[in-house]
Amino acid sequence: MQRSIIRTKIVSKQRQHKPISHTGTGVKLSERSKLPPFLALDVLQQAQALGQAGRDIIHLEIGQPSTAAPEPVNQALKQHLDDRSAHGYTVAFGETALRAAIAGHYDSWYGTRPPVDNIAVTVGSSTAFAVAFMAAFDAGDVIAIPRPGYPAYRNLMMGMGLTPRHISAGPEQGWKPMLEEMESWDRLPEGLMIASPSNPTGTVLDSAELQTICAWCDRNGVRLISDEIYHGLAFSKTCDTALNYNKDAIIINSFSKYFSMTGWRIGWMILPDQLIEASQKLIQNLFISAPTAIQRACVSAFECYDEFEAHKIRYQQNRDLLLSGLPRQMTDSAAPSDGAFYLYADISSLTDDSISFAKALLQDESVATTPGVDFDPIDGHKYLRLSFAGSPDHIEEAVRRINRFIGQQKSAVA
Ligand SMILES: Cc1ncc(COP(=O)(O)O)c(C=O)c1O
Repeated sequence: MQRSIIRTKIVSKQRQHKPISHTGTGVKLSERSKLPPFLALDVLQQAQALGQAGRDIIHLEIGQPSTAAPEPVNQALKQHLDDRSAHGYTVAFGETALRAAIAGHYDSWYGTRPPVDNIAVTVGSSTAFAVAFMAAFDAGDVIAIPRPGYPAYRNLMMGMGLTPRHISAGPEQGWKPMLEEMESWDRLPEGLMIASPSNPTGTVLDSAELQTICAWCDRNGVRLISDEIYHGLAFSKTCDTALNYNKDAIIINSFSKYFSMTGWRIGWMILPDQLIEASQKLIQNLFISAPTAIQRACVSAFECYDEFEAHKIRYQQNRDLLLSGLPRQMTDSAAPSDGAFYLYADISSLTDDSISFAKALLQDESVATTPGVDFDPIDGHKYLRLSFAGSPDHIEEAVRRINRFIGQQKSAVA
């Protein structure tokens, strides 16, 4: 008897309900969700759709190595999966063995060994930014970021109620952020974000330049965040770490680039003592810990420097193929490309609309690139970012197609 009443009730309730609308009209949408898109990923999506439709796409849009993780890392992961011991969370800052290996890496590369307690393992460097911004700043704080620069800094800050403010780092500034610009502002920023080698320009700050920035931040009470994710990928200069020169700096790095492990999603941060407790609490609440088995496998990456150095040589060869093969009007006034795996090519003599240019290049020649407006909302319409992290064959073919595309554009105008 009871069962039939319940069933009747359910049926009658269903009849009363209107179908659910998924358009979301009339329901609140947060202001912070109105972020600009990350165009490189939009281009990737379009390029993948064309690829699925049978087109032979060359991917120069996305900043990731085409190579896989080294075999010792794969083997270590298999072993940790087989022995079934890596099934729980780790502590918020991650496996001690990995943090000790990271400390050893700093010792061998930069002659400084950060305490294991100050190292936090994160889910890629992307979550490290979120932790750093939340631990160090309050809503409304101003953080200076280079223009052009990695778009996620700006987008994430805006999503968190922080105020990103650009400092020019274009051709007039030698593609490097100039501190004087901040001194002319009505108030100094609470934070300064730098990246060397830089995405999208490949600019590498030398040790003296880095020391000047570190000392300026120290003198002015500005929190420095140094994104060192492209360390190891400098072709003629050496990368120095801000860890050596500013006691309050937050250092961020990752296994995604030099270590060729983008999809493994492990990064790290080195924190000043003052931010350890806050960062621990933030990580506990944001993602609890990075994936355990992957953290353990990452320890083996520090045995594979020879393989990574071979990748670096290939990137340099790819860069040289682009610089010698692309039309000079694109390369003569391009950014220096001294590091990372990007050429920020100047297309101002060909177009004043990098988005349409990138779309046409993808449609006509199946070459995916990223329009400069992703990195620079003011002057980015004059630039195109080409990632040369792929294979030399692909780069050579890309050069052929880009030259053909530009030739066709020119003859269409003539
Ligand atoms: C400058 C810079 N920082 C951080 C990241 C994010 O890297 P991940 O989250 O994979 O460590 C990227 C990715 O392209 C980048 O270019």
